[in-house]
Amino acid sequence: MSTEINNIEIQKATTSKISNVDFDNLSFGKVFSDHMLLGVYKEGKWQAPKVVPYEPITLDPSAKIFHYGQSIFEGLKAYKDANGDTFLFRPLDNWKRLNISAKRLSIPELPEEHFIEGLKALLQVDDEWIPKKDGSSLYIRPFIFASGNGFHASPADEYTFIIATAPSGAYFSGQLKVLIEQTYSRSANGGVGFAKAGGNYAGQFYPTQLAVEKGYQQVIWTDDTTHEYIEEAGAMNIFIRINDTLITGPTSDRILDGITRKSILEIAKSENIPFEVRKISVTEVVEASKNGSLKEMFGAGTAAVISPISAFGYKDTDYDLPKIANSYGERLKKRITDIQTNKSDDSFGWRY
Ligand code: COI
Repeated sequence: MSTEINNIEIQKATTSKISNVDFDNLSFGKVFSDHMLLGVYKEGKWQAPKVVPYEPITLDPSAKIFHYGQSIFEGLKAYKDANGDTFLFRPLDNWKRLNISAKRLSIPELPEEHFIEGLKALLQVDDEWIPKKDGSSLYIRPFIFASGNGFHASPADEYTFIIATAPSGAYFSGQLKVLIEQTYSRSANGGVGFAKAGGNYAGQFYPTQLAVEKGYQQVIWTDDTTHEYIEEAGAMNIFIRINDTLITGPTSDRILDGITRKSILEIAKSENIPFEVRKISVTEVVEASKNGSLKEMFGAGTAAVISPISAFGYKDTDYDLPKIANSYGERLKKRITDIQTNKSDDSFGWRY
């Protein structure tokens, strides 16, 4: 039997898996809530999405996702405050970015109400799955892939839109030791680096695995032409603090317009933290490390929030970062998570 929330059809799961979940010991993205939002694009139109039980889906072996990787995704989180109310953080920005990615991958753009009203209905149905514990949240993964079939290398005529959710704890535990990449590239001018295309992440796995074998956890991506300019940290944007100034590279064809990244910049501005959005070279960072002016490095992204970097490797030498008092990373992380979880005011209007 189906019901409706805000015109979204709801087909409830017959049993719930929630009693199997240990909400005090959540890892990241390993257990999935009872329901998902499911929408289909066919006959030239996005059909109304429905909330349905979370379960495997059937695809034709010739579905274009398998052959040509026509697939994009987003990541956001739902939080509970002390009163049990649910909050999202800048969800319209995720919807907008999904459509920026869609355009680049020749995927039809998704209407706002399918994303926002569909997500709200899904969260109402799976309200119990949103963790209440500090440091945990419901990680939300909207994605669209080419479910239409055929071996012709051209855009599919059918697509599937899903929002799946996973109650999750921290993405990384502890500080990161990273390797500045000198061989492989994440993205190139004119490419898809700015989009959240699945293949951007698949292309990182092999270089990251090589770095892990050398004792690092993540790769710092550099520009594809000279490998001299710092671009991203694994699947996150990167911030570098030299003396009192926080620096991050400008967004471009190659760098993702991260929602955490732009929130950090807006908070820095409002708190008078000196910051610069400009290209930053490996030489500058190595020199700053040698002369003691390199104070902090951290990655920033939805899943990982702000992840401190404790050391970086470059050309067979490791450089340790000092432990410092008054860390910008800690201060910004507290500010952003307090806004997300309704523990502080939100003069930016980000909480939803
Ligand atoms: C996120 O931070 O939400 C992302 O989409 C990155 C992903 C690799 C977990």
